[in-house]
This record gives sequence, C-alpha cells and structure tokens, in this order.
Amino acid sequence: MSRITPSKKVAPRPATRAASSAAGASTRATAGKAATKTANKTLTKTKTKTKTKTKTKAATKSATKTRSKTPSKTPSKSVGFVPSVVRPARTTVLTTASEVQSRMLAARAAGATIGFVPTMGALHSGHAALFDEARRRSDVVVVSIFVNPKQFGDVSDLARYPRVLDADVDLCARCGVDYVFAPGVDEVYPPGFDTRVVAGTLANDLEGKDRAGHFDGVLTVVTLLLSIVQPHSAIFGEKDYQQLLLVQRLVKDLRLPTEIVPMPIIRELDGVALSSRNARLSPDDRQRARCLSRALVAGQDALQRGEREARVIAAEARAVLTATPGVELHYVEVRDARHVLPVARVERESRLLIAATIGGVRLIDNGPLFPGVTWRP
Ligand code: PAJ
Repeated sequence: MSRITPSKKVAPRPATRAASSAAGASTRATAGKAATKTANKTLTKTKTKTKTKTKTKAATKSATKTRSKTPSKTPSKSVGFVPSVVRPARTTVLTTASEVQSRMLAARAAGATIGFVPTMGALHSGHAALFDEARRRSDVVVVSIFVNPKQFGDVSDLARYPRVLDADVDLCARCGVDYVFAPGVDEVYPPGFDTRVVAGTLANDLEGKDRAGHFDGVLTVVTLLLSIVQPHSAIFGEKDYQQLLLVQRLVKDLRLPTEIVPMPIIRELDGVALSSRNARLSPDDRQRARCLSRALVAGQDALQRGEREARVIAAEARAVLTATPGVELHYVEVRDARHVLPVARVERESRLLIAATIGGVRLIDNGPLFPGVTWRP
C-alpha cells in the first residue's frame, strides 16, 4: 500500500492490474482524445485525530471483500501511514450516503485525493478501465453502483437492467477499488425528494430525442453522487459521448470542484464496444452488432479518402448498417466533437455517433473523425 508523505509529492500508486485482465475479457482501448494525464498529487499534512476512530467503527458494519494484493514494484520512500479510514485494506461496501460522506471527510482531512467512477453495475472491462484510471490518479477510489430509475423512460427497460452486485464487488476488489457505494433507491431518493437537474439544449438531441427526461435523470443523479462523494476527479467513458459532454457542462456551469476525466471506449477484439447490454444479445445478434464499429470504419475510410462532406461520410456509415439485416437504425450523425452540434464539413475534430437496436437491445457507439489522423475501432 502506498503511504502518504506529509507535504511531499508521492508517486502514483501502480495500477492494480490492467483493466482487461481484471475483468477477464479480451479487450482493447482505442485512442480517442481522452486526456489521461498522470497526476502526481501533492498531499498535505493533516491530522486525522480521534474522529477517525469513530468513523472506522461505524464502517466495520459494512460488508467487505478482499482486494487482491498488488506488489508495489517501486519501494515506498514515504514515512507516513495511510489510516484504514482513508484507504481500507479491503474493498468496503457502503450503502448509505452518510457513511460515504464521513469516510470521504476523513480521507480529505488526511490529505488524500479521491477518484470517483459512477456506474449502474453489471460491470465489465470498460468500467474496469475507468477504475484503473481512478486508481492511477487518486489515493482513494470510490465506485458507485446504482441503477438510477430517473434516467429510464421505459419501466420494463429498468426492470430488465442486470443487477449482479456480488460479481460487481468482486471485480471492484480485483481493480483495487476502495469503496463501493451501493445504495438502495430510497437512500438516493428518500420520500419527499423533489429536486431535478434540468440538462441544457444538448439533452434534447441524439440519445435524448426519443427519451424525454433521460439526461435530466442522469444529471440529477450525477450531481447528487458528486455532492456525496466530493471527489477530486470523476472518470467517465467516451462510450456515452453525449453524457460525457453534458456532465462536463454540468460541472462547468455549476462550478463543481471535480475534474471530469474522459476515457476511450474499450472494445472486444472484433470491435464491438463493451456494454452491459451486450449480454442480452443472442449469438446471432452479437455477430450483427459488429456492424456498428464497421460503420465507424466506413466513415473513417471515407474521411481518409479525402471526403469532408459530413452528409457523405454519414451515408457511407449508414450503408453498412442498413445492409445488415435485423438492425433498426436510430441515427448516424457526424457532429463537432466539443458540443455535438451538426457540422456540414469535417474540417476539425468531429465525432461519428451511431445508435441502433438489434434484437430488442439498443446499442450506441461512436468514434473520432480527425482529418489527417487514422483511427480504427
Ligand atoms: P454505466 O452505463 O454503468 O456506465 C458507467 C460508465 O462506464 C460511463 O461513464 C460509461 O461511459 C462507461 N463505459 C461503459 N462502457 C464502456 C466502454 N466500453 N468503454 C469505456 N467506458 C465505458 O453511464 C452510466 O452508467 C450512468 O448513466 C451513470 C453515469 C452512472 C448515471 O446513472
């Protein structure tokens, strides 16, 4: 375990394991424009005092899972001690907001940096990559697992969402996650809860078009979670590109003191983006699902041939999808990469975004379009 060195820079803790090996799947990340800067954090000397004891006692009630031990290759030069209330020896599952708040208060008081990854569970290597990044840049890693009813328009979609907490906690343990926050619905939205974060205009497009209120639900729960955890950084995947931009907007507009860190999409070896929903695909539909990443390649090929008309690039991608039987296409759009606004020509950083339903499962994918830069999913 790394130690806190008062008033000194500490080397970042080595990633517990590669994301893909932690989740036991053959996957790869593809380069997007994700910022994955290594951050050496300065830890300031702070005393935890007796408050720590009470918090530790309260937290022992929580369920715990053994985290795999990671031998540190670089011997620690530090002389300090990381109190278990800052980084517990095991992955600790907390179910109440107040437990999380008191643990985070103690961690911050000890000068530790907090990295946070919000999820809805059914975790896979895509999530694990985010945990690894949080592990790499923070002293304490918190993952939330909460299937947020406010972002589901369709009740049956909410009911069908996989819930596999034990397996999720095991994966978190293997990734070196310190705290899993797995609250019930009443804990997040207690009786009387009556506040909603309303997402801006971007929310009415693409993923928000046929799902009124979806992004309000996302931003409401993200605001709530950020407020409970108060992390230094929160990691989000480019898989949900529109969501990532909306969260970045939220944090900027409300001046929330958390850095939003984007991470590239993790894919299966055949190019299919990892998603909790893939498990619901039949073997045939899983094969068909490859058409999304193949459509991204088609758009990319058009760009490499010198095509700059967004309409033509989108048409090339669309042709791959419409040629695949059993694919219900929702959209194929070329947008600017910063605001996801429509563009006529691809002259600067853009994004090709796709949504389609295959075998009753709604899938999304996207990839960058940078003139002069070759990208492959
Ligand atoms: P969920 O779908 O569980 O995703 C949690 C995070 O994992 C998101 O930031 C998502 O973009 C990222 N992710 C999913 N698949 C990925 C992949 N293949 N590669 C890289 N990152 C991937 O997104 C949500 O949950 C919810 O909307 C949430 C933000 C938790 C709010 O409820």
